[in-house]
Amino acid sequence: MNPRPDRTADTAAGAGARPAGRHAGHVASRAARRMGLSLRTLLRPGPRQTELITEDGEQSYRPINLKLIRRLMQFLKPYRHRYALGVIVGMVMVLLDLQSPRFIGWIVNYTTNYVSGQISPAPSQQQAMMKVAGIVGLWACLLATTLLLERWIILIMTNAGERVQFDIRRALFAHLQRLSMSFYDKTKFGRIISRCTSDVNSLREVNVWGIHTVVQNTLMICFAAGMLLATQWRLFLAVAWLSPVLFVLNRAYRRKAAVMHQRVREGYTRVSTNLAENITGVRVVTAFDRQSWNLGVFNVLQYNNTENNLRAARVNGVYLPLLGFVGFCGRAIILLYGGYLVASGQIDRTVGVGSVVMAFLYWDRFMGPTLNFGNFYNQLMAAMAGGERIMALLDLKPEVADVPDAAPLPPINGHVRFEHVTFGYDPNRPVLHDVDFEAQPGQMIALVGATGSGKSSIVSLIARFYQPQQGRVLVDGHDIRYVTGDSLHRQMGLVLQTNYLFTGTVMENIRYARPEATEDQVIGAAKALGTYDAIMSMQDGFNTQVGERGANVSIGQRQLICFTRAFLADPRIFMLDEATSSVDTTTEQIIQRSLEKLLEGRTTFVVAHRLSTIQRADCILVIDNGRIIERGTHWTLLEQDGKYARLYEQFLMHKPDIAHASEIVASRQAFPGAP
Ligand SMILES: Nc1ncnc2c1ncn2[C@@H]1O[C@H](COP(=O)(O)OP(=O)(O)OP(=O)(O)O)[C@@H](O)[C@H]1O
Ligand SMILES: [Mg+2]
Repeated sequence: MNPRPDRTADTAAGAGARPAGRHAGHVASRAARRMGLSLRTLLRPGPRQTELITEDGEQSYRPINLKLIRRLMQFLKPYRHRYALGVIVGMVMVLLDLQSPRFIGWIVNYTTNYVSGQISPAPSQQQAMMKVAGIVGLWACLLATTLLLERWIILIMTNAGERVQFDIRRALFAHLQRLSMSFYDKTKFGRIISRCTSDVNSLREVNVWGIHTVVQNTLMICFAAGMLLATQWRLFLAVAWLSPVLFVLNRAYRRKAAVMHQRVREGYTRVSTNLAENITGVRVVTAFDRQSWNLGVFNVLQYNNTENNLRAARVNGVYLPLLGFVGFCGRAIILLYGGYLVASGQIDRTVGVGSVVMAFLYWDRFMGPTLNFGNFYNQLMAAMAGGERIMALLDLKPEVADVPDAAPLPPINGHVRFEHVTFGYDPNRPVLHDVDFEAQPGQMIALVGATGSGKSSIVSLIARFYQPQQGRVLVDGHDIRYVTGDSLHRQMGLVLQTNYLFTGTVMENIRYARPEATEDQVIGAAKALGTYDAIMSMQDGFNTQVGERGANVSIGQRQLICFTRAFLADPRIFMLDEATSSVDTTTEQIIQRSLEKLLEGRTTFVVAHRLSTIQRADCILVIDNGRIIERGTHWTLLEQDGKYARLYEQFLMHKPDIAHASEIVASRQAFPGAP
């Protein structure tokens, strides 16, 4: 008896998979032909598959990994009392369940003896009926108790298992938040999602039912064998030789299943990763009319996935019928040999028929858990593969983490120093070379340079998203490597090239920087910054719902919301990595005004494309191929007539509307030091 509904580990390997597989196969091959890809090269087995299996540096597969099980057990440990209770109740259930064949044996023996008149004194028909009804009544009581226990076990085990699932997800989420940007640069979004969803789900069956299944089935197998021996030792010996056959079968199956399950899971991850990527980039997909191409690639991956499932189903399709056949052999032997023993009088006739029936039923009790173990093994395989990936993710050390004795950064003035910093996302390919500069508190530093020159990388290093390979970044004289991340980030504000707004209202998004701020404070900040009117002109003002990544908000509005968010946080150091997007003149003016307000009185690093912003910088760093090639104010740099002067000329040529003479005159007046 097993309280959980039995099912194979991967339902995709079930009956529905076959027709879908054929259809997917046709579409996939058509798509692949269109793409000039040979299906054979995309599908396993082949080197490509191996390469994919180890994609993202994932561990290749090992069947049952005791170390992994021990680690997973750590998640179960806090709930050990619940599990223990479940196991004890399960053991009681097994013992009660093993009594059922006895009742049937009694009834069979009593009725056969009654019919053949071997009971003395002979009971009347009514008495006999009453006796049988009594036995059935007792049996029903036993069954009712078993059913109640079963319900109890379901509740206990689900309760414990779901809590474990909760803990694993929480651990993963907490860990993901600690991981450095480099992890997110390297890892596909879909892969991360599948770690937290399908991989965690693959552990569910094992977390909920694992311990119970192992204990209950082992007990059932041992006790059923014992009861069979106690009931009829000759019948026991007659079927005992089937055990090694079962053992060999199981072993062979386990080996095959281990490989199959790893493939199934990998194939599935590739499908979901591809799906996630295409959904994330749906605008680009539509803009470049890549739908049918994408569908082709998706179908090839799907076809691969379906094929993997079918292969797994083929393995199951050999193993399960074979097990069924062994079960049938046992039954046939018991019935034939038992019948012979009874007929030839080698078993006492008064108990003979009943004991053969009991032996038959105990054999079934013996075979049932063996089949269950097969299913459980499938689930265990899926869980092993999922667990291995989850643990691999949990084992990843954040590249930028607080050192053990990191001290909180005290309130800062905003002095920033880059000391001979060399940095590369890949340590072997530096993108910043010996960058050295200093920003006094309250100064504004503008970063200027061609695309890909390293401006955003400098900003990322100040925010400690990455760690320089050489040199140091100091804030108020503290090496930011040795201060705690939260104390540093609390004093920094950042508006990135790719602004992100979370699902929710504008108000919630602004408050993200300071959750404790009241609505009045948010509105006050918007008014002080000059973004209030622009936000109020949105559909529902501060209550306007913005979608994921700020989908239904214009670029200008998004920037204003992000400015307000940064302004509310009131950081000492502010960094603006502006996107080169053009907005209408009115918005441009609002942005410009609020930006000036935002920059006031803080140390600021600005990657700006607005001439007026750059012009008023205390220092402009001209970056070229990761090196500072010029530095100085707008006017000193123009005088040098170097790279900056060229960039400025280009700027004037491309933005004649902004760069008219009056602006230059105005800026000369604003900066008396200018020539
Ligand atoms: N996450 C990343 N992983 C690996 N390389 C990166 C990453 N981000 C940037 N790079 C590389 O580092 C170099 C500098 O990039 P960076 O983003 O700092 O340039 P940028 O000056 O900000 O350019 P843009 O003006 O286009 O924003 C480029 O060669 C880029 O390809
Ligand atoms: Mg950039």
